[in-house]
Amino acid sequence: MSEAAVKKAPSWEDLTEALHHCTRCALYQKATQVVCGEGSHTSPVIFVGEQPGDQEDLAGRPFVGPAGQVFDEVMASIGWPREEIYLTNAVKHFKFWLKGERRIHQTPAPEEVDCCRYWLRQEWRLLKPRLTIALGGTAVLALTGKKQTLGSLRGKILTLGKAAAPFIVTYHPSYILRQASEEGRQRAYQAMQQDLTIARNFLA
Ligand code: URA
Repeated sequence: MSEAAVKKAPSWEDLTEALHHCTRCALYQKATQVVCGEGSHTSPVIFVGEQPGDQEDLAGRPFVGPAGQVFDEVMASIGWPREEIYLTNAVKHFKFWLKGERRIHQTPAPEEVDCCRYWLRQEWRLLKPRLTIALGGTAVLALTGKKQTLGSLRGKILTLGKAAAPFIVTYHPSYILRQASEEGRQRAYQAMQQDLTIARNFLA
């Protein structure tokens, strides 16, 4: 399945197949495997994270490691089951550097985000979501083409592109994990709960 064919006759199966042959940037060379988006193909919402982490790279599934656990917890706390949503990443291969045997996460470069936007567009076209949710700065960059700080964007319904597609920005779950204090973690957790409640109410 060539990329041109995906553009012309997209189906979820074609997309998955094409993603497994992706060589659009160099990240595929070191990663174990591509990590496709997953979830409901009738979801009215697409959640966009950054890139797979160590555990996602090994499992071949998004958000199954520590950040995924936090994500699931926040979603459960507001009564939004993961089975009802579609969840993907801005970049589909794990980028890391080696510290001894440990693979340490590296933020994808803007050029890698640009390369992978091709796939995000295919997912978006197939799903036709009523709402797009960016989890963190890399997702914002992938969706808007601009590097922006989250502070002023979070927690309100924005619009994306010429189509003015509804869009909401919240923290990446690993931002909660990175907080140095319990108080900081609580604050970030509650902010994410609030943002996602706004998103859920928008869809209600
Ligand atoms: N962080 C992400 O952005 N995505 C994943 O799939 C896992 C961790």
